[in-house]
Amino acid sequence: MDAILQLEGVSRSFGGLMAVGDVGFAVQAGEIFGLIGPNGAGKTTLFNLISGITPVSAGKISFLGQDILGIAPHKVAGMGMARTFQNIRLFSGMSVLDNVRAPMQAFAETGLLSDLLGLPASRAQEMKIRDKALELLGLVGLESKALDVASSLPYGERRRLEIARALALRPKLLLLDEPAAGLNLAEKAELSSFIRDLRDRFDLTVLIIEHHVPLVMGLCDRLAVLNFGRLICQGKPEDVRNDQCVIDAYLGDSHAAART
Ligand SMILES: Nc1ncnc2c1ncn2[C@@H]1O[C@H](COP(=O)(O)OP(=O)(O)OP(=O)(O)O)[C@@H](O)[C@H]1O
Ligand SMILES: [Mg+2]
Repeated sequence: MDAILQLEGVSRSFGGLMAVGDVGFAVQAGEIFGLIGPNGAGKTTLFNLISGITPVSAGKISFLGQDILGIAPHKVAGMGMARTFQNIRLFSGMSVLDNVRAPMQAFAETGLLSDLLGLPASRAQEMKIRDKALELLGLVGLESKALDVASSLPYGERRRLEIARALALRPKLLLLDEPAAGLNLAEKAELSSFIRDLRDRFDLTVLIIEHHVPLVMGLCDRLAVLNFGRLICQGKPEDVRNDQCVIDAYLGDSHAAART
């Protein structure tokens, strides 16, 4: 299998604080790869480095075999990398449908003039985008809410809308930052099979940050564990679960009890 994403010696400091230090791992195409660790371990910062939102202080990141450091986030997205955010980011005043349609429209290849004149090619394109957006909403169970304002959705549905929007550009790699946060237990269980289904249906690779230990252990093919910005362990869920460093830093009794 080929690595779709590769990190070598990736570091990022904020002033004197080393948020991410010398992190290296490779995610293989088709994997569901988990990133876990205590609060403040550097997980979201690592997502920001991978998606190009935050520049690295040192190291190398390649996506689909190409060095992506210094490439603007929207260009990295155009190469096939999409993400969701720990604090949901939606166009909250826009409709559910428009939230999914907007990124597709931004990438659509219609000429400005044909748009202005409402020529058939452009209208056909618009219909295609609308159909595709509705199909994605159907996939996340939000088709009946297509015309609702995004901000009116309950929390769990906003999370699903964010995933639908991330899928709009047909990514090869999907980064999910704590998608189960704020969901109840039943929704968490559903999310797990939903992510697996997405991987299979769209031929995706998934990199997921998640605190809910049963979910990550059951869902991920492999995991990497961060602690104080450092990678302290990586491997299959059963190996990570039994690693003493991980138990001490993260999975110890009190932590595990709080997260199940
Ligand atoms: N823009 C920033 N400026 C300064 N410090 C930052 C910045 N972003 C993150 N940090 C710090 O870097 C460290 C890692 O933060 P990060 O958000 O990556 O952790 P995390 O593993 O995602 O935590 P959580 O599980 O709480 O989401 C923290 O100490 C945080 O305060
Ligand atoms: Mg975070």
